[in-house]
Amino acid sequence: MLQNDNRAQFSTRLGVIATTVGSAVGLGNIWRFPYEAGTHGGGAFLITYLCFIFAFGIPILCAEFMIGRGTHSNIFGAFRQLRSSGKWHWVGYIGIVASIMILSFYSVVAGWTLEYLYQSITGALNLNSQEAYHAQFQQFSTHPWRPLLWTILFLIVNFVIVIRGVQKGIERMSNIMMPILFLILIIFCVNSLLMPGAKEGLEFLFSPDFSKIDSSVMVSAMGQAFFSLSLGLGTMMTYASYFSKETHIVKSATITACLDTTVAILSGVIIFPAVFTFGVSPTQGPALVFEVLPNIFNQLPGGSLWSILFFFLLFIASLSSTISMSEVSIAYFTEEKKMSRNKATILNTAIALIFGTLCALSFNCLDNITIAGMTIFSIFDYVSSNILLPAGGMFISFFAGWLLDRSFIHNQLTNNGSVKVRVTKAIIFSLKYVAPTGIILVFLSSLKLI
Ligand code: PFF
Repeated sequence: MLQNDNRAQFSTRLGVIATTVGSAVGLGNIWRFPYEAGTHGGGAFLITYLCFIFAFGIPILCAEFMIGRGTHSNIFGAFRQLRSSGKWHWVGYIGIVASIMILSFYSVVAGWTLEYLYQSITGALNLNSQEAYHAQFQQFSTHPWRPLLWTILFLIVNFVIVIRGVQKGIERMSNIMMPILFLILIIFCVNSLLMPGAKEGLEFLFSPDFSKIDSSVMVSAMGQAFFSLSLGLGTMMTYASYFSKETHIVKSATITACLDTTVAILSGVIIFPAVFTFGVSPTQGPALVFEVLPNIFNQLPGGSLWSILFFFLLFIASLSSTISMSEVSIAYFTEEKKMSRNKATILNTAIALIFGTLCALSFNCLDNITIAGMTIFSIFDYVSSNILLPAGGMFISFFAGWLLDRSFIHNQLTNNGSVKVRVTKAIIFSLKYVAPTGIILVFLSSLKLI
């Protein structure tokens, strides 16, 4: 789909949803959400996250969809078309930096998924205590070359798919895999709900202690909302440039956000009962799900089969996300810099390989390089998700709310008046006031300026 210059369109509504959900659902839901929720107070984090999804996320997703479909262009071309004067295409640069930073650390975690898939196949995950799973992950992540090898392998797979323009194949595959992933997550949920720590786990996730909502919770929840929806960097805008005239923007944005959020919550419902059952601290950080999930699978009848299936599906989910983020810089190199697709893909992968290596090594030989207590990996994660994506989102919402022609917005949201949309005013209100000021306020409060 994406390599065609004649701008093929998604033929069905399902095609639209499957592709946007393919980008949105990935490690962000299954790996990042539980660890962020775990380190930021569980329920307090979840409620803040949900507020951001509905107050900022869905409206900004609508804005990216409108701009992308209305201009049939990537983020640079779109801003240039809509506002030839001014410096709005700079928002595109934020998107490129963010997409490359995310690709770099995301590939490390996708590499962990591959290692765990491999270990599930060889039976190395059949351990008998939570301590053993903890030790296993520590041993692996601090190994001098293993994580790096998997990171490189993952980036090569991503490269081969993107350069050969066979996204279509992967998308078709992920259309089948995503529903299966959804199904097995539900099975795992039921299993977790039967664990002795279920009550404690659910309480941790669903009963918010409002006093815990401080600026750090808000920054993380906001970052998670943007990260999970692939928002603020132009990914969704690029995808929307392939939407047809009939695509219902508001419905598509709402369905995408709801499915994405459901997967994150399912993941929380799987992890936290197990966390309390196994006596793990929810504040483990990035290691959390890799230490807890294998122990859950091990206790299921047919353990390794579940584990193989799960890590394989997670790998496909990660791949459909990295393909979508790679498209941001590739679209820039090909459409703005007139590079060939091959060169653009090589460049994108080469940069990600360099930074991905630094991220992978920051768990072992580079773990002494820290800024404000954060390793290179955490810095890449924090800066891209918590700063660059919301900043990009703020500019996009400001642009859509204040500078876009009202008739453009109206035509996009209602498909030239052919569908009735009751929430047009609410979306414009959010884009104009709620999202940009909200994002600025969260930034200011995290800098302790308010
Ligand atoms: N939304 C993806 C996830 O939750 O795993 C991550 C992501 C994909 C972020 C694509 C940004 C992006 F452009």
